[in-house]
Amino acid sequence: MPSARSSDVLVVGGGIIGLVTAWRAAQRGFTTALVDPEPGGGAAQVAAGMLAAVTELHFGEETLLGLNLASARRYPDFAAELTETTGHDLGYRRNGTLAVALDADDRAHLRELHALQVRSGLESQWLSGRECRRLEPMLAPGVRGGLRVDGDHQIDPRRLAAALVTACERAGVVVHRTWAERLSVARERATGVVTTEGTGLDADRVVLAGGSLSGRLAGVPDDVVPPVRPVKGQVLRLTVPRRYAPFLNRTVRAVVRGSHVYLVPRENGELVVGATSEELGWDTTVTAGGVYELLRDAHELVPGITELPLTETRAGLRPGSPDNAPLLGPSALDGLLLATGHHRNGVLLTPVTGDVMAHVLTTGELPAEARPFTPLRFGATARTELPV
Ligand code: GLY
Repeated sequence: MPSARSSDVLVVGGGIIGLVTAWRAAQRGFTTALVDPEPGGGAAQVAAGMLAAVTELHFGEETLLGLNLASARRYPDFAAELTETTGHDLGYRRNGTLAVALDADDRAHLRELHALQVRSGLESQWLSGRECRRLEPMLAPGVRGGLRVDGDHQIDPRRLAAALVTACERAGVVVHRTWAERLSVARERATGVVTTEGTGLDADRVVLAGGSLSGRLAGVPDDVVPPVRPVKGQVLRLTVPRRYAPFLNRTVRAVVRGSHVYLVPRENGELVVGATSEELGWDTTVTAGGVYELLRDAHELVPGITELPLTETRAGLRPGSPDNAPLLGPSALDGLLLATGHHRNGVLLTPVTGDVMAHVLTTGELPAEARPFTPLRFGATARTELPV
């Protein structure tokens, strides 16, 4: 067991990325500690949990696609291992995704996406509007066509986070429920952190996994600060009464007037509707405008949602990076590693991130699949200056 103040590996940040890193490090035999005031909190409390490597493919992100697919392939074993270890049901559902078009422009966009998916060797089937509605009778009559992707699954991120907290505890990770305020550096090497209470936590290696806050840890040399910024997402939760079930059989999504909207139906009747994408610094206000736009777009897609109780509105911060891809592995400062910048793909990339970070901690090298995501690709960076 690690002592209270010293460990082989200290993970800063207890979101799902920090937790999976700590869990995998402890499994490899490292004495491991984690510092976070509320482990399991953060963006996972807001995220919808789509494992959408194929339907969230974006032009220019083909390198990221490889990592996303590698993680999607690991999900069945990862979820089974985590459930076996903790007894937690993760709400993992392999019920697929339908991405639909509502007008001629959307249809043209979706056709382009389909062509890119096919060129990339991905499984995606073009359906007519009628075929879409046969699969999902609640869809609007005006749907013009869509893509059926049975390989894009979902998980409940809140359950995932809770399970990872339990897995860490069972693996002997020492959890410090406080903020890391400052990185400690001695002789040009990271040696731990100092907490807001002034307690020093020492470690051979520090992994910075602070999500959108990763650029704000004091004491990190300017040229090592990860170029991560907060990207706000507002998300709604509705409840499908039993008499309406099954309301939707799979995740349904579309681009409406240039904005992404998705509806993710859980087995327990929860229906998650997301998400805005806003560059507003650290603001996490749920706005009338955000809720209105999500409901308006979701209603165009599935008119019946206005009948459902609206049970929760929430905003979270995605950790955006300059190329929308994560920063994984050693930084330019000895002893400091990064696992951050997962942007829209944190839930999807959780299994592969755990494996990659365990590999780096054990061997000092990134595995081949993760080499494009070295933090060193950005060179010297400057701290993200945003109002508090
Ligand atoms: N991956 C979904 C989102 O970031 O909204």
